[in-house]
Amino acid sequence: MSAVDSVVIQPARAVSGTIRLPGDKSISHRYAMLAALASGDTQLRNFSTGADCASTLRCLRSLGVQWEQRPDALVIHGIAQLKASSSPLDCGNSGSTMRMLSGILAGQAFTSELIGDESLSRRPMARVITPLEMMGAQIEAGKDHRPPLKIHGTQLKAINYDMPVASAQVKTSVLFAGLLADGETRVTEPVRTRDHGEIALRAFGAQVDQQGKAIIIRGGQKLRATEATIPGDLSSAAFFLCSAGILPGSQLVITDLLLNPTRARLLDVLTSMGLSITIAEIEEHHGELRGSIQVEGRGLKGGTIAGADTAALIDEIPVLAAIAPYTREGMDIRDARELRVKESDRIAAIARNLRAMGAELAEFEDGLTIPGNQQLRGAEVDSLGDHRIAMAFAIAALGAEGETTVKGSSAAVISFPEFFNVLAQTAQR
Ligand code: S3P
Repeated sequence: MSAVDSVVIQPARAVSGTIRLPGDKSISHRYAMLAALASGDTQLRNFSTGADCASTLRCLRSLGVQWEQRPDALVIHGIAQLKASSSPLDCGNSGSTMRMLSGILAGQAFTSELIGDESLSRRPMARVITPLEMMGAQIEAGKDHRPPLKIHGTQLKAINYDMPVASAQVKTSVLFAGLLADGETRVTEPVRTRDHGEIALRAFGAQVDQQGKAIIIRGGQKLRATEATIPGDLSSAAFFLCSAGILPGSQLVITDLLLNPTRARLLDVLTSMGLSITIAEIEEHHGELRGSIQVEGRGLKGGTIAGADTAALIDEIPVLAAIAPYTREGMDIRDARELRVKESDRIAAIARNLRAMGAELAEFEDGLTIPGNQQLRGAEVDSLGDHRIAMAFAIAALGAEGETTVKGSSAAVISFPEFFNVLAQTAQR
């Protein structure tokens, strides 16, 4: 993502209004990939509008899958057999596309090459290469197991896999490969991560069992097309929830929001820090919970995020850290080493931008300690090409003294192209 673009953000007094967010990115990727393998046409309403999910759709098109965006829904026509792509599959900035699609491609009777942008080309892929090779695929990678990947697919065999890293992308990749393998695949995670992969497989008719932290899938099951409305992305909502948290008097309603318990830890954490959150109209569709939430800001206390909480909040930590100086007691963020291998080194990016805004903090290999009660100053901050850093610092800017320039703001298109418009509509000055 180029860093020549920028936006200027003025401080705000509060955020208010009613918003509905584009569909969750994690669910959109998974539904699209499974729809491609299912028999029949799948209709997906409120599909993610982010560039990452567009990368998944583009790769599927190169593999012979037809889809079209109709006014009310994305329609994906499943095919019996994927076809080899005549060119490398470009995953863009999307780690989810590369890792989860690898599981499917490992089980095909052809070879595929997966490439990505500069950021994705730096990200670790050994975490999917190891289990997929145990299942029988042969995978060539760049230096230190980084992209590009060349996957020589084969008839896979089931494995019993204890995941060394907590990663829902890896879990989903192995489960997708397990669907195509001979026998019963069992994946055990070190801590529970988001369960959209398991839930999506069931939505398309597969049986997936769970025993504690182990997920089990029998190979050879056939998928059936489905229809769904994808709930609003909770990780996108995080930016507005955190801004309401630090700006007393804020009143927001977010409708049709994903409330899956493996993703909703942010709501508990913000509540424990002092945000008033009322949840209404909870419904379940295809195993995913959604509802409307009403929030009222009255300042935040701060606190510690560590252990299983860090894994559960991994995508929300950039914005939590960006508002930490405005909390009364600050935040301690630990066990977050994984943040160093996301779209950017997010620990370094947070530290650099908070310091640019005048904050004091301590940076560790696995986290940050950010004292509270600090008044940030408007400054020039840099997304470093990372969508969540761009949006997190636009939120930090709301509480600052003076205006802030976010360089590389267009990175937001990766997960939330509408972000700056929604911010303009909700920010009260
Ligand atoms: C995701 C899992 C997380 C998260 C990413 C999306 C998913 O990554 O950071 O944005 O959809 O499964 P890891 O699997 O690397 O933890």
